[in-house]
Amino acid sequence: MHTEDNKKSSHVVWHEATVTRARREAANGHRSVILWFTGLSGAGKSTLAHALEEQLHCLGMRTFVFDGDNVRHGLCSDLGFSEADREENIRRIGEMAKLFTQAGVIALTAFISPFRSDRDRVRALVKRGDFIEIYCHASLDACEARDVKGLYARARKGEIRDFTGISSPYEEPDAPELIVETGSRPLDDCVDQVIRYLAECGIIKA
Ligand code: ADX
Repeated sequence: MHTEDNKKSSHVVWHEATVTRARREAANGHRSVILWFTGLSGAGKSTLAHALEEQLHCLGMRTFVFDGDNVRHGLCSDLGFSEADREENIRRIGEMAKLFTQAGVIALTAFISPFRSDRDRVRALVKRGDFIEIYCHASLDACEARDVKGLYARARKGEIRDFTGISSPYEEPDAPELIVETGSRPLDDCVDQVIRYLAECGIIKA
Protein backbone atom coordinates (compact mmCIF):
# COMPACT_ATOMS: atom_id res chain seq x y z
CA MET A 1 0.00 0.00 0.00
CA HIS A 2 1.30 3.50 -0.88
CA THR A 3 0.98 5.82 2.08
CA GLU A 4 2.14 9.46 1.96
CA ASP A 5 4.98 8.38 4.23
CA ASN A 6 6.53 5.70 2.14
CA LYS A 7 6.08 7.76 -1.05
CA LYS A 8 8.03 10.70 0.37
CA SER A 9 11.03 8.70 1.56
CA SER A 10 10.66 9.90 5.13
CA HIS A 11 12.35 6.76 6.48
CA VAL A 12 15.35 6.96 4.20
CA VAL A 13 18.66 7.73 5.86
CA TRP A 14 21.59 9.38 4.08
CA HIS A 15 24.62 7.08 3.86
CA GLU A 16 28.01 8.82 4.12
CA ALA A 17 30.61 7.59 1.66
CA THR A 18 34.07 6.76 3.00
CA VAL A 19 35.52 7.76 -0.36
CA THR A 20 34.61 11.41 0.08
CA ARG A 21 34.34 14.18 -2.44
CA ALA A 22 37.52 15.72 -1.04
CA ARG A 23 39.44 12.48 -1.59
CA ARG A 24 38.11 12.21 -5.13
CA GLU A 25 39.05 15.81 -5.89
CA ALA A 26 42.54 15.26 -4.48
CA ALA A 27 42.96 12.14 -6.62
CA ASN A 28 41.70 13.98 -9.71
CA GLY A 29 43.86 17.06 -9.14
CA HIS A 30 41.00 19.48 -9.71
CA ARG A 31 37.86 20.67 -7.97
CA SER A 32 34.45 19.41 -8.96
CA VAL A 33 31.93 22.04 -10.01
CA ILE A 34 28.83 22.51 -12.10
CA LEU A 35 29.41 24.57 -15.24
CA TRP A 36 25.87 25.63 -16.01
CA PHE A 37 25.55 26.86 -19.62
CA THR A 38 22.34 28.75 -20.29
CA GLY A 39 21.05 30.55 -23.37
CA LEU A 40 18.66 30.37 -26.29
CA SER A 41 18.27 27.28 -28.46
CA GLY A 42 21.03 27.47 -31.06
CA ALA A 43 23.16 29.87 -28.99
CA GLY A 44 25.96 27.31 -28.92
CA LYS A 45 25.67 25.90 -25.38
CA SER A 46 26.23 22.26 -26.35
CA THR A 47 28.95 23.09 -28.86
CA LEU A 48 30.86 25.10 -26.26
CA ALA A 49 30.30 22.52 -23.49
CA HIS A 50 31.57 19.67 -25.67
CA ALA A 51 34.55 21.64 -27.00
CA LEU A 52 35.48 22.63 -23.45
CA GLU A 53 35.06 19.06 -22.23
CA GLU A 54 37.35 17.88 -25.03
CA GLN A 55 40.13 20.18 -23.77
CA LEU A 56 39.60 19.37 -20.09
CA HIS A 57 39.52 15.65 -20.83
CA CYS A 58 42.76 15.90 -22.80
CA LEU A 59 44.29 17.62 -19.76
CA GLY A 60 43.36 14.53 -17.73
CA MET A 61 40.30 15.87 -15.95
CA ARG A 62 37.10 14.04 -15.02
CA THR A 63 34.19 15.60 -16.86
CA PHE A 64 30.70 14.87 -18.11
CA VAL A 65 28.34 16.84 -20.37
CA PHE A 66 24.59 16.79 -19.83
CA ASP A 67 22.89 17.97 -22.95
CA GLY A 68 19.25 19.09 -23.24
CA ASP A 69 18.42 17.14 -26.37
CA ASN A 70 20.07 13.95 -25.06
CA VAL A 71 18.61 14.04 -21.56
CA ARG A 72 15.15 14.56 -23.00
CA HIS A 73 15.50 11.19 -24.77
CA GLY A 74 15.79 9.34 -21.47
CA LEU A 75 15.77 10.73 -17.95
CA CYS A 76 13.36 13.52 -18.93
CA SER A 77 11.52 11.90 -21.83
CA ASP A 78 8.24 12.34 -19.95
CA LEU A 79 8.62 16.15 -19.96
CA GLY A 80 7.56 18.77 -22.49
CA PHE A 81 8.11 22.52 -22.66
CA SER A 82 5.43 23.99 -20.41
CA GLU A 83 6.75 26.11 -17.55
CA ALA A 84 6.09 23.31 -15.06
CA ASP A 85 7.83 20.71 -17.22
CA ARG A 86 10.87 22.92 -17.76
CA GLU A 87 11.03 23.52 -14.01
CA GLU A 88 11.02 19.76 -13.39
CA ASN A 89 13.58 19.22 -16.16
CA ILE A 90 15.99 21.68 -14.54
CA ARG A 91 15.29 20.30 -11.05
CA ARG A 92 16.26 16.78 -12.14
CA ILE A 93 19.37 17.97 -13.96
CA GLY A 94 20.35 20.08 -10.96
CA GLU A 95 20.10 17.08 -8.63
CA MET A 96 22.00 14.92 -11.11
CA ALA A 97 24.75 17.52 -11.53
CA LYS A 98 25.01 17.80 -7.75
CA LEU A 99 25.61 14.05 -7.51
CA PHE A 100 28.33 14.41 -10.12
CA THR A 101 30.10 17.06 -8.02
CA GLN A 102 30.02 14.59 -5.13
CA ALA A 103 31.62 12.10 -7.53
CA GLY A 104 34.49 14.55 -8.05
CA VAL A 105 33.49 15.36 -11.61
CA ILE A 106 33.25 18.65 -13.49
CA ALA A 107 29.63 18.50 -14.69
CA LEU A 108 28.86 20.61 -17.75
CA THR A 109 25.15 21.18 -18.34
CA ALA A 110 23.76 22.60 -21.59
CA PHE A 111 20.08 23.44 -21.14
CA ILE A 112 18.18 26.51 -22.22
CA SER A 113 17.03 26.79 -18.59
CA PRO A 114 15.09 29.93 -19.48
CA PHE A 115 13.74 30.74 -16.02
CA ARG A 116 15.89 32.59 -13.49
CA SER A 117 14.11 30.97 -10.54
CA ASP A 118 14.89 27.46 -11.82
CA ARG A 119 18.59 28.29 -12.26
CA ASP A 120 18.73 29.98 -8.85
CA ARG A 121 17.19 26.90 -7.27
CA VAL A 122 20.05 24.79 -8.60
CA ARG A 123 22.56 27.38 -7.36
CA ALA A 124 21.00 27.12 -3.89
CA LEU A 125 21.23 23.33 -3.98
CA VAL A 126 25.01 23.26 -3.85
CA LYS A 127 27.64 25.03 -1.80
CA ARG A 128 28.91 28.48 -2.71
CA GLY A 129 31.31 28.36 -5.61
CA ASP A 130 30.09 25.00 -6.91
CA PHE A 131 27.62 26.50 -9.38
CA ILE A 132 29.13 28.51 -12.18
CA GLU A 133 26.54 30.11 -14.41
CA ILE A 134 27.80 30.71 -17.93
CA TYR A 135 25.53 32.77 -20.13
CA CYS A 136 25.99 31.82 -23.77
CA HIS A 137 24.93 35.09 -25.31
CA ALA A 138 23.67 35.10 -28.88
CA SER A 139 20.90 37.35 -30.13
CA LEU A 140 17.58 35.84 -31.11
CA ASP A 141 18.26 37.09 -34.65
CA ALA A 142 21.56 35.20 -34.77
CA CYS A 143 20.01 31.99 -33.40
CA GLU A 144 17.08 32.26 -35.76
CA ALA A 145 19.35 32.94 -38.75
CA ARG A 146 21.39 29.82 -37.93
CA ASP A 147 18.33 27.70 -37.16
CA VAL A 148 20.44 24.54 -37.23
CA LYS A 149 17.50 22.26 -36.37
CA GLY A 150 14.87 24.20 -38.34
CA LEU A 151 12.87 24.65 -35.15
CA TYR A 152 12.64 28.47 -35.23
CA ALA A 153 11.02 28.35 -38.68
CA ARG A 154 8.53 25.78 -37.38
CA ALA A 155 7.86 27.85 -34.26
CA ARG A 156 7.21 30.96 -36.39
CA LYS A 157 4.67 28.97 -38.41
CA GLY A 158 2.97 27.99 -35.15
CA GLU A 159 3.88 24.32 -35.51
CA ILE A 160 5.76 24.29 -32.18
CA ARG A 161 4.14 25.80 -29.10
CA ASP A 162 5.96 27.51 -26.22
CA PHE A 163 9.16 27.94 -28.19
CA THR A 164 11.82 29.85 -26.25
CA GLY A 165 12.40 33.32 -27.67
CA ILE A 166 9.29 33.14 -29.89
CA SER A 167 6.33 32.13 -27.79
CA SER A 168 7.95 31.46 -24.42
CA PRO A 169 10.32 33.81 -22.54
CA TYR A 170 14.05 33.60 -21.93
CA GLU A 171 15.11 35.38 -18.75
CA GLU A 172 18.72 36.55 -19.01
CA PRO A 173 20.92 35.86 -15.98
CA ASP A 174 21.28 38.86 -13.63
CA ALA A 175 24.75 38.08 -12.38
CA PRO A 176 26.28 35.10 -14.17
CA GLU A 177 29.86 34.17 -13.32
CA LEU A 178 30.66 34.45 -17.03
CA ILE A 179 29.13 35.84 -20.20
CA VAL A 180 30.46 34.20 -23.33
CA GLU A 181 29.68 35.83 -26.67
CA THR A 182 28.91 32.60 -28.48
CA GLY A 183 26.89 34.47 -31.09
CA SER A 184 29.83 36.50 -32.35
CA ARG A 185 33.13 35.05 -31.07
CA PRO A 186 34.97 32.04 -32.51
CA LEU A 187 34.52 28.79 -30.55
CA ASP A 188 38.22 28.58 -29.56
CA ASP A 189 38.06 32.03 -27.95
CA CYS A 190 34.98 31.03 -25.97
CA VAL A 191 36.67 27.82 -24.76
CA ASP A 192 39.79 29.78 -23.76
CA GLN A 193 37.68 32.29 -21.84
CA VAL A 194 36.11 29.55 -19.71
CA ILE A 195 39.43 27.76 -19.16
CA ARG A 196 41.07 31.02 -18.03
CA TYR A 197 38.21 31.59 -15.58
CA LEU A 198 38.51 28.07 -14.13
CA ALA A 199 42.25 28.52 -13.67
CA GLU A 200 41.84 31.99 -12.09
CA CYS A 201 39.36 30.57 -9.58
CA GLY A 202 41.68 27.67 -8.74
CA ILE A 203 39.18 25.08 -9.96
CA ILE A 204 41.77 23.66 -12.32
CA LYS A 205 45.53 24.14 -12.19
CA ALA A 206 46.84 27.03 -14.26
S1 ADX B 1 14.71 23.69 -21.11
O1 ADX B 1 13.93 24.91 -21.40
O2 ADX B 1 13.92 22.71 -20.35
O3 ADX B 1 15.99 23.99 -20.45
P1 ADX B 1 16.13 21.97 -22.90
O4 ADX B 1 17.47 22.60 -22.94
O5 ADX B 1 15.95 20.76 -22.06
O6 ADX B 1 15.03 23.09 -22.56
O7 ADX B 1 15.69 21.55 -24.39
C1 ADX B 1 15.83 22.46 -25.41
C2 ADX B 1 15.93 21.79 -26.79
O8 ADX B 1 14.71 21.13 -27.10
C3 ADX B 1 16.12 22.84 -27.86
O9 ADX B 1 17.48 23.01 -28.17
C4 ADX B 1 15.34 22.31 -29.02
O10 ADX B 1 16.17 21.48 -29.80
C5 ADX B 1 14.30 21.42 -28.42
N1 ADX B 1 12.93 22.00 -28.33
C6 ADX B 1 11.80 21.39 -28.74
N2 ADX B 1 10.70 22.13 -28.46
C7 ADX B 1 11.15 23.26 -27.85
C8 ADX B 1 10.49 24.42 -27.30
N3 ADX B 1 9.17 24.54 -27.33
N4 ADX B 1 11.26 25.40 -26.76
C9 ADX B 1 12.59 25.25 -26.72
N5 ADX B 1 13.26 24.20 -27.21
C10 ADX B 1 12.57 23.19 -27.76
